[in-house]
Amino acid sequence: MGCGKPETFTPCCWDTTKPLEEKLPFKDPIVEVGFGNGDFTVELAKRFPESPVLGVDRWHPGVRALVHKCQNEGLKNLFVFNLDANLFVQYLLKPAQAAAFYFNYPDPYFKKKDIEKGRRLLRAPFLKWLALKLKDGGKVYFRTDVKDYFDYVLEEVKKVGDLFEVKFEFDWDLPPTKYERKALKEGRRPHKLLLIKRASPPLEDKEVEPLRAVKISSYDLSVLRPGLELKDPKRGYFMKVERTYRGEGVDLVETFVGEEGFYQHLFVGIFRTKDGFVVKPKSFAVGVRSVSWMVENLARLLEGKGEGQTEEGSSTSTQTPLR
Ligand SMILES: C[S@@+](CC[C@H](N)C(=O)[O-])C[C@H]1O[C@@H](n2cnc3c(N)ncnc32)[C@H](O)[C@@H]1O
Repeated sequence: MGCGKPETFTPCCWDTTKPLEEKLPFKDPIVEVGFGNGDFTVELAKRFPESPVLGVDRWHPGVRALVHKCQNEGLKNLFVFNLDANLFVQYLLKPAQAAAFYFNYPDPYFKKKDIEKGRRLLRAPFLKWLALKLKDGGKVYFRTDVKDYFDYVLEEVKKVGDLFEVKFEFDWDLPPTKYERKALKEGRRPHKLLLIKRASPPLEDKEVEPLRAVKISSYDLSVLRPGLELKDPKRGYFMKVERTYRGEGVDLVETFVGEEGFYQHLFVGIFRTKDGFVVKPKSFAVGVRSVSWMVENLARLLEGKGEGQTEEGSSTSTQTPLR
């Protein structure tokens, strides 16, 4: 979603007939990951008016707040993405595309269990992705008030060898963020790390799976009652029907779909064609496998073919009411 409109791209209305293979056509974007309430993103957009500024966060209220700020300020170079940062960086950015990444006070995840599970964002594999997607000399700005997280990131940086030159001061005075103000008030100071890209890692850019569209001959929308859930525990897929909408020429199913701890909010359309209907994601979607899985299952249910089934004959899906 976004309020700037370059001629070739309107993030809030991604055309799913031309899905993710056509990646973001931004030149030298500046990316802020985990923008929270978005104040810093707005400052970035004002300070660098000639650059596209892309804000990425998976927290819906923050995303809404930033979209409003962006519209109120009339900013044309600010784009807001309601996505997990891992997927954004790996799937949507091209190699050597980004000018800079900003990480302001990312979630520290204090529990050992969470750290071991890789919940901290700035880990060696992710740093490699950042290096791949940064142009030469591109920068990563990281600040945190948690010394333990800072030390952890330094260790992770060591693991990626010579990809970055490391500095402990920024090269410009970054405006404070909401979280920074709170930390300072409570007596915690920022620890700063500036990484400057020196080399690209030997990583292949991720292949993007095209979003699947499924043909059906007839359907009954009423079978998709709100709260209906499908799960594939073996593969960790999950989907929930939020609501259905009847429209002119197209009916919509509002859903949540997820895999591996990431979920997205998607509208799936049921479009009339010459010889029947086609079920396909309507809004912007990351072509992760769970989306195809969901579309296939929705199509099956809509056609009255009963419980969710999955590809390759797997029958691990279960259909359970939410409450
Ligand atoms: C502690 S808050 C800091 C917010 C803001 N940067 C500030 O300094 O005020 C961390 C933010 O990162 C976001 N976040 C955490 N993990 C994320 C991920 N994997 N992808 C996208 N956003 C993430 C959270 O939703 C939250 O808004």
